[in-house]
Amino acid sequence: MNGARKLFVNSYGCQMNVYDSRRMMDTLAPEGFVETGSADDAELIILNTCHIREKASEKVYSELGRLRLLKQAAEREGRNITIAVGGCVAQAEGREILRRAPMVDLVFGPQNYHRLPELLARAKRDGQAIDTDFPVEDKFDHLTAPSVAATRARGVTAFVTIQEGCDKFCTFCVVPYTRGAESSRPVMKIVAETERLADAGVREITLIGQNVNAYHGEGPDGRSWTLGQLLYRLADIPGIARLRYTTSHPRDVDDSLVATHRDLRSLMPYLHLPVQSGSDRVLAAMNRRHTRRDYLAAIERLRSAQPAIAFSSDFIVGFPGEGDDDFRDTMSLIEEAGFVSGFSFKYSPRPGTPAADMDEQVPEDIKSARLAELQALIERQHARFRRDCVGRTLDVLFEKPGRHPGQIAGRSPYLEPVQVSGPDTLIGEIVPVTITAAGPNSLFGTIARSNIAEDRMPLTQTAGA
Ligand code: SAH
Ligand code: SF4
Ligand code: F3S
Repeated sequence: MNGARKLFVNSYGCQMNVYDSRRMMDTLAPEGFVETGSADDAELIILNTCHIREKASEKVYSELGRLRLLKQAAEREGRNITIAVGGCVAQAEGREILRRAPMVDLVFGPQNYHRLPELLARAKRDGQAIDTDFPVEDKFDHLTAPSVAATRARGVTAFVTIQEGCDKFCTFCVVPYTRGAESSRPVMKIVAETERLADAGVREITLIGQNVNAYHGEGPDGRSWTLGQLLYRLADIPGIARLRYTTSHPRDVDDSLVATHRDLRSLMPYLHLPVQSGSDRVLAAMNRRHTRRDYLAAIERLRSAQPAIAFSSDFIVGFPGEGDDDFRDTMSLIEEAGFVSGFSFKYSPRPGTPAADMDEQVPEDIKSARLAELQALIERQHARFRRDCVGRTLDVLFEKPGRHPGQIAGRSPYLEPVQVSGPDTLIGEIVPVTITAAGPNSLFGTIARSNIAEDRMPLTQTAGA
C-alpha cells in the first residue's frame, strides 16, 4: 500500500492484552497505520506488556534490547522507528522504563491507549512521552471501531471486554494496581459491539474481564445488570452461536449466572474458574476469600445446572508458607474437582504486593518439584478427557483451513482443536463431528451430517439469519 505506515504490536500476557492490541491498531488506522507481522519493517513498534510474574515482566527488557539494535540500524539508513511500551509493565514501572531503556519514545498504561494518536504526536514533539494516569474519561468512548474488513480478517471468533480491573486484592497479584479499580461497560455498548461483530461474520464471542463475573454494568433500564442478565441479552443476537466468558472468580458465581448455564444453549459448557490452591490455610493467606468447600460447592451448582460442563483452573505452587500438606490439598482438589485442563505457575513475588514481604518464602527447587508434579496430574486428567471424547459427537465451529490440504480446523465446545477432512466452505459453520481419535494437540473426527437432526436445526437456522 502506497504511503502506508507500518505498525507492529507485540502482545504479552492475557487475552485482554490481545483485545487491547487490536483496539490500538484500530485506533491508529485513521492515522494511516497498517498492521505488519514483524518488527523489522515497522515504523511504529508497540510492546503491549504483562507484569503478572517476574519472567513476563523481564521479557520486555530483553525485547527492548533487541529493538534498540533495530532502531540504531534503521537510523543509520536514515529511517526513524518509534518504540512504545504499553500495558501492565508500563503502568507499574512508568518512568523506570525510560530510565532502563532510554531509546523508548513512549510509555502508556492500559487505560490510556485511546490517546495514542495524541501521545505519538507528543513523543515526536518532545522526544519522549509518558501517560500512566487513570483518566476520568472512559477509553471505550474514544476508541475507533474496526472496519468490517479488519473484523472479517480476524476470523469467526472474537473477544469483547465487558469488565476491567479488580478490587479483590489477592495478596500475590499486581492486577488491581496495573489495571485499576473494577469497572463495567454499559450493557448496550456491549450489545452494539457484539452486533457489529456478528454482522462481520463472527460466530463466537468470549466476554473478557479480569473478574468477568463481577460484571455490574448499567442496563437499558438504568439498573445494574449481572453477567447472567447480560448473557441472556447477548444470546438473542442473530448470528452469535457461541458465548463464553473468562476469567471468573469463584466468589462471584451467583444464581443468575448458574441459571444461564442451564438455559442458554449458546453458552459453552466449559468454564475457566481459577482456584489457585486447595488448602484453606493458603487460600486465606492469599486473601481469596473462599474456602475449598465454597469452591467445590460453586462447581457443583454449575454441574447440576449443566451436567455436560467441564472445568479448567489456575494454580499457584510455592505461595509463602505453603507446606507439603497444603500442596497435597491442592493435588487432591484437582482430582476431586475433575479439572480437564489448567494453567499452573510457580509463585513469583511481585513488587508492592503483600505476599512478597511474607515470611516463609518457598525455595525454588521445591516450587519446581511441586509444579512438575501438579502439571503431570493435570496432563493425565487432560489426556483422559481427550480420550473420553473419542466416539462422542461434538459440535465444532470451523475456524480455518487445517494443517493439510483438504482439512479444516475448528474447536469443540471444550475449546479442544479439532481437525477433519472437509471443504473450506464450512469455515464459520457449526457442524456435528464424530471424534475418531485424540492426538496430543488435537482431536480428529469425521463430519456427522446425519446428526444435523431436529434439535440442531434451530442453531443452524439462527446462524443463517
Ligand atoms: N483474575 C483471575 C486471574 C488473573 S492472573 C483470578 O482471579 O483468578 C492469571 C493467573 O496468574 C492467576 O490465576 C494466577 O494463577 C497467576 N498469578 C497471578 N499472580 C501470580 C504471581 N505473583 N505468581 C504466580 N502466579 C501468579
Ligand atoms: Fe488478581 Fe485476585 Fe483480582 Fe484475580 S481476583 S485479578 S488473582 S487480585
Ligand atoms: Fe498480565 Fe496485565 Fe493481563 S499483568 S495477565 S497483561 S491484566
